[in-house]
Amino acid sequence: MAKIIVTDGMSKDAVNLLEKSGHEVTLKSFSKEELLQGCLSDFDAIIVRSATKLTEDVINSTGASLKVIGRAGVGVDNIDLEAASKAGIVVVNAPLASTQSVVELTISHLLASIRHIAKSDRGLRLGKWEKKAMVGTELSGKSLGLIGFGRIAQGVGMVAQALGMEVHTYDPYLPPKVAKSQSTRLHKDVDDLFRTCTHISVHCNLTDETHHLVNYERMKLMPGKSRLGLKCGNHIVNCARGGIIDENGLLQALEEGVVSSAALDVFEKEPVDPKNILLTHPDFHGTPHIGAATIEAQSRVGTDIARNVMDVLNGKSVKSTVNSHLLE
Ligand code: MLT
Repeated sequence: MAKIIVTDGMSKDAVNLLEKSGHEVTLKSFSKEELLQGCLSDFDAIIVRSATKLTEDVINSTGASLKVIGRAGVGVDNIDLEAASKAGIVVVNAPLASTQSVVELTISHLLASIRHIAKSDRGLRLGKWEKKAMVGTELSGKSLGLIGFGRIAQGVGMVAQALGMEVHTYDPYLPPKVAKSQSTRLHKDVDDLFRTCTHISVHCNLTDETHHLVNYERMKLMPGKSRLGLKCGNHIVNCARGGIIDENGLLQALEEGVVSSAALDVFEKEPVDPKNILLTHPDFHGTPHIGAATIEAQSRVGTDIARNVMDVLNGKSVKSTVNSHLLE
């Protein structure tokens, strides 16, 4: 029997699965100070979402008992992988569980942007019937540029193609045959992607390489019109990670009309600062990092991570181990 601490909540089914397998599960969140004072030192495994930050100092204060960190989700940017590896802790995630939910949110943001859904709603609440000002464009016939072409981007690409969009991608790690198999044009140069596409959606991880990859200069390269010459403006969506888009650059692009709309589910600082000026721009709308926040995704995330954590505890090798390259 292992002692498992779950600090950012988890579905009931997943907790039941762990308990039925004989493990002791504690559901409790901790402050940053408590984490640094070694409150995790009693546990064999910890399961977190994004709220708990497992920094080097926190990991070093866990003592020798912790064997596995489970990230109930995809992104592991809240976990110091090097520190975990040095301490011999296996880090696993649940990479497949939220794909469909994030795909659907991305398409929702694209459609909401080009049809002014959030903006119209804000007007209606103020008693405005702005029918003429809310003329939009269709996605059909436009070029969508996907930054990163993993599972989520491929799902977005499929829906976008079904809606009549031409799909492009920039992903320096992608074997060209994958893009080809999805009828997607792979660009070697990220600037080319911006020069070609009126709609850009971000789907890569946040790394030193991708930090502020979407910036004012690049947004200025976007054509603002479709291949057939229709003025549809430029549109930006990010449901991946904050920090890949330079928010100051995005604001400037919106203010100057370089970009006609922007929709973000993720921000450089989360929870987003209520004073963030983007929130006051009429052509901006956002959501509070809810890509994986569906009943279906959370249920899958919970059971996937519970199974992965138990497999590590049972000495099995787990496909979704994210630090196998760092473990000695
Ligand atoms: C993820 O990385 O799984 C998503 O961004 C969802 C989350 O962090 O809660």
